[in-house]
Amino acid sequence: MGSTYKILHPTDLEAVDNEKKTFALDVLVGLSETPKRLSSRYFYDERGSQLFEQIMDLPEYYLTKCEFNIFENKQVEIAQLVRGEKFNLVELGAGDGRKTSLLINHFLRNGFRFQYVPIDISESAMKTLTDFLNKSFPELETTGIVAEYFNGLKWLNNITGSRNLVLFLGSNLGNFNKPQSRVFLRNLWNTLNDGDYLLTGFDLKKDIDLMLKAYNDSQGITREFNLNLLRRINTELKGDFDIDKFRHYSGYDVFTGAMESYLVSLENQTVFIKDIGQSFAFQEWEPIHTEYSYKYLESDIRELAEATGFVIEKQLYDSRKWFVDSVWKVQKVNHRDTT
Ligand SMILES: C[S@@+](CC[C@H](N)C(=O)[O-])C[C@H]1O[C@@H](n2cnc3c(N)ncnc32)[C@H](O)[C@@H]1O
Repeated sequence: MGSTYKILHPTDLEAVDNEKKTFALDVLVGLSETPKRLSSRYFYDERGSQLFEQIMDLPEYYLTKCEFNIFENKQVEIAQLVRGEKFNLVELGAGDGRKTSLLINHFLRNGFRFQYVPIDISESAMKTLTDFLNKSFPELETTGIVAEYFNGLKWLNNITGSRNLVLFLGSNLGNFNKPQSRVFLRNLWNTLNDGDYLLTGFDLKKDIDLMLKAYNDSQGITREFNLNLLRRINTELKGDFDIDKFRHYSGYDVFTGAMESYLVSLENQTVFIKDIGQSFAFQEWEPIHTEYSYKYLESDIRELAEATGFVIEKQLYDSRKWFVDSVWKVQKVNHRDTT
């Protein structure tokens, strides 16, 4: 019993090296494209994970508050899904697990038999989480996996025949564009077993000003979070980005329905990244795309579930109906296999 974690990589050999190579390759490809882009998965080094915890506490960042409200009020409904059998509570991109701890508490108080398997690419987030769990729930069995989502899930498949309840909270799915989320969900469907459950957070379309404020907070924490990506390149890949020569910008695209974040170059400049061995030229006002945060209509959620082999079981809303945790069941029997 107790909470531990392991760092998992495609091969356990040269683990850190592999992660760094992938990071370097993604930066090389992203900064060589027009328009330039960097993946939001690289936000979460130690400082990035700490900054994200601060973002969740911001008054403007309504997403976490909405999901807290759901987890406070709908525990019984979630518990009904897994009542009476041993199961794995798997969480993709668990972060600090604050919201999940409400559910864990409910499961433990009601004598449920389960292990918690948080999967997160950030080792510092995982360390904070497992330390917190050891203090708060010493009786909980946790195996944290520091890995990219699907590498973590592959490991899970090797060790268990139990039912899975997979959590994918916050706006994590919204970080993928529409085709990427379909591929992601279909891959997830392939990895899971018939009858498993997936509970995914969807931020619903709402007043544009509320969304703009959430991603452009008055204390400038989101700005720091976005710029930290350049700091991370400087530290881990020996880049020479001058952070003061870039600014954070986040706006809503009404056509795609996504809040999108950018880092915009404030002048003509060249940045050298030693570990990539290459310079990258930026023109004044040239953006780097750093994050999608898609917002959804109910019909988008229905279409996504249907297209990827899931059946919607429950829609769990917060009291303002700004956000929904959508519970989907994996349906494999009689399913038209499109993969
Ligand atoms: C926006 S935070 C959300 C944390 C938590 N799910 C919540 O709702 O509060 C995203 C988390 O997902 C992790 N993450 C991002 N991309 C990942 C990936 N490709 N594989 C595994 N974890 C990832 C990050 O390290 C971070 O802890």
